[in-house]
Amino acid sequence: MDIMCSFAHIAVFLVFAVVNSQNTFTQPIIWQDLADIDVIRVNETFYYSASNMHFSPSAPLLRSWDLVNWEFFAHSLPTLDKDYPKFNLEGTSAYNQGVYASSIAYNSHKGLYYWVGCLVGTDKTYIYTARDPQGPWEEASVISDYCYYDDGILIDDDGAMYVAYGKWVPNGADAKIWVARLTDDLQHDVAEEVFQSDEEIQYIEGARFYKINGTYYIWLVNHHSEFGQGQIVLKSSGGPFGPYDSWRRVLGSSGNPIPGAGSPLQGGIVDTPNGDWWYIAFVDMWPAGRYPVLAPIIWDDDGWPSVVFDGENNWGSNYPYPLVKHETKPLARKDDFSELGSQYEWNHNPDNSKWSLEEGLKLQTATVTDDFFLARNTLTHRILGPNSTLTIELDFSSMKDGDMAGLAVFRYNADLISVTKEENGTSLQMIHNIAMDATDGWHTVEKGEVVASKPLYGSRTWLRAQAINAGNQVVATFSYSTDGIDFLPFGDTHHSLNGAVYFLGTRYGVFNYATNEFGGSVTIKSLEITQGE
Ligand SMILES: *[C@@H]1O[C@H](CO)[C@@H](O)[C@H](O)[C@H]1NC(C)=O
Ligand SMILES: *[C@@H]1O[C@H](CO)[C@@H](O)[C@H](O)[C@H]1NC(C)=O
Ligand SMILES: *[C@@H]1O[C@H](CO)[C@@H](O)[C@H](O)[C@H]1NC(C)=O
Ligand SMILES: *[C@@H]1O[C@H](CO)[C@@H](O)[C@H](O)[C@H]1NC(C)=O
Repeated sequence: MDIMCSFAHIAVFLVFAVVNSQNTFTQPIIWQDLADIDVIRVNETFYYSASNMHFSPSAPLLRSWDLVNWEFFAHSLPTLDKDYPKFNLEGTSAYNQGVYASSIAYNSHKGLYYWVGCLVGTDKTYIYTARDPQGPWEEASVISDYCYYDDGILIDDDGAMYVAYGKWVPNGADAKIWVARLTDDLQHDVAEEVFQSDEEIQYIEGARFYKINGTYYIWLVNHHSEFGQGQIVLKSSGGPFGPYDSWRRVLGSSGNPIPGAGSPLQGGIVDTPNGDWWYIAFVDMWPAGRYPVLAPIIWDDDGWPSVVFDGENNWGSNYPYPLVKHETKPLARKDDFSELGSQYEWNHNPDNSKWSLEEGLKLQTATVTDDFFLARNTLTHRILGPNSTLTIELDFSSMKDGDMAGLAVFRYNADLISVTKEENGTSLQMIHNIAMDATDGWHTVEKGEVVASKPLYGSRTWLRAQAINAGNQVVATFSYSTDGIDFLPFGDTHHSLNGAVYFLGTRYGVFNYATNEFGGSVTIKSLEITQGE
């Protein structure tokens, strides 16, 4: 046995393994709840738009240069329509309404980026445009008598704009898809019903609209065998209005690229500067959220796309990198609030007069309430899977009696730890089991109870939550520290509810609200997120 020779073999193998792991990515591409993806490329940059329902700013926008590493950098909808008190948490709420699957596009004829989306809860479609995708995004049109439900935008070669969309129907086999043309001033022009589902196809929605090599395609999620799996594509033998006289199945039940999660569906496709095509879909992993997965697409000679599956004929857990790896800003990091990054979203529209950046994030109380789900200006961050922590350093020296400020983990139920200021002193409390009613429009039915309490002294504390995403459950625990180094567990465990169709995953929330009167404030000196396996 030639020892040198076997060392050489091992060395070759190690080099191969290192190269291989550097050139391979693992699903999901982002461990955060970012569903209903639309993806486009403008020159070398990819843009990813997602839904976020009742959170604000809305329609988060991420960017990438390799399709695998993404960074948050803007929102296409700066605010949910402020004319609706429910979007502002003004005594009422719009949980699970707002931004559903919406769409982005770049129109090179006009040098403008477009975002088009129906706000569920308004029956109106909103169109926002920007010269620079970083913003400002400005309202360009409101189409008040059409909800382009789950829309996909197409910019044709001549710059004309079309939208493919659906309408929620109770019976899947009756589901229809329409195409509308927009006028130059972005109003509804003509629309035609272009496709109706049937017993074989079943429920369709989530339209994406493409023109590829001169052929028009509509890409649709299709809940054919059970809710949450399946994708088809329609092909037109004519123009944008069809006829869409042929279709193909792209995905059925196509494996579980993230162990413990569902099968990929919905999303969009995009080509690279090299001419390769890729598909970003999402998988259900409620109550944690819906996570994006990426796979290559190939086309046959008749112009039909198919996903490149793994050896088991499933969407793979790993694929080679689409392009040379290009790092982006890390998703888990420490923030001292020199700016308010777009990785955060407020729970509903905030009262912008009640927060500021002054050596940290200063939160004045913005609502007098005893209901966490009706308190304005809760700043949220998606939990990161599979496990993550969020820690805040909280200066509580300017609170008023009756104020509550701290850290929550919530979906449609919440648990929180609160610095609670009362006449006789300040305490750290854990409020357990706050919940909304899942069957009657998402209103608070349980305001929670204090299950742990201890006096707090000084003016500063560190609060931490750790959320573990264990497939079909999210479990979170809380702790606190008086020096930022040693943390002591505090209170009970949070379990995110998952008993109804509530589209969003679990988030962390930083809150400050009054139960007596306005005037108090706290400052979040820093916020740190860590992500673990
Ligand atoms: C894309 O690249 C072309 C060619 O370099 C350039 O003229 C154009 O301005 C670029 N478009 C954008 C939106 O950056
Ligand atoms: C478009 O047509 C070109 C030229 O025939 C071909 O090379 C390319 O593969 C086609 N692309 C798609 C997505 O079908
Ligand atoms: C203040 O009084 C309330 C009601 O008696 C009590 O529950 C709370 O623990 C007290 N707080 C402090 C900090 O002692
Ligand atoms: C969370 O992740 C960290 C870092 O990977 C790991 O050490 C820890 O065991 C994980 N905790 C749980 C509960 O999975």
